Amino acid sequence: MGGKKAVNWPRGLKSWGALKDHCREDIRKRHLGDMFRRDPERFTRFSIEAEGLLLDYSRHRVTRKTMKLLNRLALETNVEALREGMFAGEHINESEDRAVLHAALRADRDDPYFDGELDATAAVHEVLDRMDAFVRAVHSGQYAGHGTGRHFTDVVNIGIGGSDLGIEMAVGALANYAVPGLRVHCVSNIDGVGLADTLARIDPATTLFVVCSKTFTTLETLTNAHAARAWFVERFGAEAVRTHFVGVSTNHEAMDEFGISPANRFGFWDFVGGRFSMWSAVGLAIALGIGMDNFRALLAGGRVIDRHFRDAPLDQNLPVLMGLLSVWNTNFLGAESLAVLPYDSRLARFPAYLQQLHMESNGKGRRRDGTRVSVATAPVLWGEPGSNAQHSFFQLLHQGTRQVAIDFLAPVQGSGPSQGQHDLALANMLAQARALAEGDDDGSGGYPGNRPSTTLLFQKLDPETLGKLVALYEHKVFVESVIWGINAFDQPGVELGKRLAREMTDAVAQPDGFQGGDASTRGLLDAIVRWR
Ligand code: F6P
Repeated sequence: MGGKKAVNWPRGLKSWGALKDHCREDIRKRHLGDMFRRDPERFTRFSIEAEGLLLDYSRHRVTRKTMKLLNRLALETNVEALREGMFAGEHINESEDRAVLHAALRADRDDPYFDGELDATAAVHEVLDRMDAFVRAVHSGQYAGHGTGRHFTDVVNIGIGGSDLGIEMAVGALANYAVPGLRVHCVSNIDGVGLADTLARIDPATTLFVVCSKTFTTLETLTNAHAARAWFVERFGAEAVRTHFVGVSTNHEAMDEFGISPANRFGFWDFVGGRFSMWSAVGLAIALGIGMDNFRALLAGGRVIDRHFRDAPLDQNLPVLMGLLSVWNTNFLGAESLAVLPYDSRLARFPAYLQQLHMESNGKGRRRDGTRVSVATAPVLWGEPGSNAQHSFFQLLHQGTRQVAIDFLAPVQGSGPSQGQHDLALANMLAQARALAEGDDDGSGGYPGNRPSTTLLFQKLDPETLGKLVALYEHKVFVESVIWGINAFDQPGVELGKRLAREMTDAVAQPDGFQGGDASTRGLLDAIVRWR
């Protein structure tokens, strides 16, 4: 993936060194409370309103000089050239030799996206149009339960990771847009609890199962899918599987083997990473849940941010600024984690969604050229909706010894029925951001403040805005990866665990014959035998 191959990337870069000096000589001596007192223009200077989003980064420990140096870092690390490489379909996912074209999933029909010879825009729209017809047929009842002609009342998405989190997050976030009479359930975990609980609530005659897996080889998904099919066949017969099971995958043969009829297979492509795939057919359950018009509005929101990311100057570019501030907090101010705190209960699963996006993408210890990274990469991401979280872990944010960067997010118009109650949530968010920045130091150092936070405000949590938010974080993650010199689009670390899980599956089934593993593994297997 292009970029300058500095031997000591990014530490050896001029702008990196300048940022280090600036942090030590200037920023570490300053306090956010003073910075606000001294500069009444601080909010105007360090906030941007663009594309219906207001990004307030005035509560970061930055000055004009910091922002200038960060801008220089973006230039020196070739963020612009690599961004163009991504949109142009270059194989910037070098380790897997793949293009990275999730932006094509939300393209207008005349936006040109190509993966080599493949016209990605045309391919995407062909699948979208098929999804459109399918979703509308389900909603109208034209596509109905086998033998009974009854309308579908329940959709069960079976997937995990990128084939689950975006669906659960978006269906929850957009519950106000839910199609009446159709419930969406998400089943992911391998232990079968989620599946059993869901099956207990549904009627096979009116349930549509969506088996969602990019590879269609993932143990969790196949285990749950086979268990769901067995349950279904027992109650409703094998004949009905063709109508009641739909598949979403890049692996058409595996869908075939599972018994999914060709008309019910929705494909996508290797140029889409799992954690960037909710915009593709992976979002079929979202589209079923909120309707195709709303799903297309979600895509339109993503597209708005793609254009902004490509066109806005670096110093007014939302994802670029968010990526740079993250690098600033992580590598210069020592933040070890990022807390994402939405002040809207509908966004309850947004932090979980962002966990995979950030940590599977940038939780890396090797640079693109295979050498070890010499700086910290992705911080740990965590979070919960406010104001609930204020009554659990905010104590640590205010006075703990660890540095945590914070993203507050909120719509101005609440998602609940009472704007009065939502106003209370907004008031709490504003109060927390202030307290974290200002502190309340009586001289004993008890409540130090000077804790950085971003506030991201928008009018309303609608499908288009959700699309904007997700795309914003996607591109922020990309910007970070470029600066750290890592590939955000592979996940080699997950593979070893998957391999060992296969070995341990046999061991748990027949512990007696198992000779391998370490003493801990054998000791635990002993206990499993005793207590099973
Ligand atoms: O957890 C590893 C991973 O490969 C993720 O990247 C992916 O989103 C998830 O597993 C599910 O994969 P699939 O969609 O192929 O079932």
